[in-house]
Amino acid sequence: MTPFNRRAGLLHCEDVALDAIARDFGTPTYVYSSAGLSAAYQAYDQAFAGHEHLICYAVKANSSLAILNLFAKLGAGFDIVSGGELARVLAAGGDPAKVVFSGVGKTAAEMEAALAAGIHCFNVESESELARLNAVAGRLGKVAPVSFRVNPNVDAKTHPYIATGLKENKFGIAYDDAPRLYREAAGLANLRVVGIDCHIGSQLTESSPFGEALDKVLDLVDRLAADGVVLAHIDLGGGLGVRYKDETPPAMSEYAGVLLSRLAGRTQKLVLEPGRSLVANAGLLLTKVEYLKHGEAKDFAIVDAAMNDLMRPSLYDAWHDVQPVRERSAIARRYEIVGPVCESGDFLARERDLALAEGDLLALLSAGAYGMSMSSNYNTRPRAAEVLVAGGNAVLTRRRERVEDLFSDEIVPA
Ligand code: LLP
Repeated sequence: MTPFNRRAGLLHCEDVALDAIARDFGTPTYVYSSAGLSAAYQAYDQAFAGHEHLICYAVKANSSLAILNLFAKLGAGFDIVSGGELARVLAAGGDPAKVVFSGVGKTAAEMEAALAAGIHCFNVESESELARLNAVAGRLGKVAPVSFRVNPNVDAKTHPYIATGLKENKFGIAYDDAPRLYREAAGLANLRVVGIDCHIGSQLTESSPFGEALDKVLDLVDRLAADGVVLAHIDLGGGLGVRYKDETPPAMSEYAGVLLSRLAGRTQKLVLEPGRSLVANAGLLLTKVEYLKHGEAKDFAIVDAAMNDLMRPSLYDAWHDVQPVRERSAIARRYEIVGPVCESGDFLARERDLALAEGDLLALLSAGAYGMSMSSNYNTRPRAAEVLVAGGNAVLTRRRERVEDLFSDEIVPA
């Protein structure tokens, strides 16, 4: 399902032409489709309808309040990794009782905020964190719901920067330590053991690692039950991949089948933490060609978006499709699509055959996930605006940053 379509040669988001968005809101601008976001959430919800489940959207993929609010209205929970993300979820009207808190470095202050909000559970990633959480909860006179993030040592077969379930990764507790740590947690007065969790990586394009991870988790669930530790939920993290170019990630039905077949007859609620697969293909980055530069070795299209806006190509050599907003019937040339940032690594796309003129608008597709949320102010560049489209309506959901915002917290010593 693509929420972006071409009508009479002009690229649209739902029923809104992208040149109108550029005219009204400027560039660079992230543009999201409500229908695309809703359809992605509903695909999960429907595929898992046969088993009690909670879809906790991984806020880090795109933490726009408008998007969080849209998912909250559809009934989503949220996977957070910081106090900042908790504050966003609450500001967007998310239900704290549906929030799971992941991450290896939770501070005492973040734990306090999450306990005060009454979150669903803490995904604990170390023995030291367990002790800290028990102490913080005790201080507040609360009982913290906990789940251990276990590291199942499964190869997710994805980019090494985003594989998280191998022994050498910093995440989770070692698989073999789990029984001992669950016993320890059960003995701590201010904790209540509620679940088990794992997340093996991101942008997985095969379903077998999910099955392998779940098998390992279920083995532990059974061993813990024999020990008298009965869990209420199993959280399998996120990680389902999307198509950027020619990847063939498992269809939702295949992914769900792999998990549900293994969960048949089990009482535990299934929790999932998808990020990318809910937002990536519902968003694009709209940018304008500032200059065409025909270099000695290469042709460059210098656009007004840069690596600070969309970091994935520079960081992971990620591929995003580039589409002209209005097609031209001229001969294509092979372009490097680059930004104005002063680094050779500042490219958004390489070797793309396009017919371009200065002033043309381009769309970088599949930019809804880990685009805006990873953007920065490098080169003192204000971050992009964000627009959410629903049918024929385009609404500004984040105004473009202003240069004066960028140094308003700075102090020049007297
Ligand atoms: N749960 C946990 C604990 C995670 O660490 C992540 C992502 C997710 C869920 C969501 O995974 P997803 O469904 O989005 O694959 N910046 C990288 C991706 C980093 C993913 C980090 N963790 C990128 O742009 O490809």
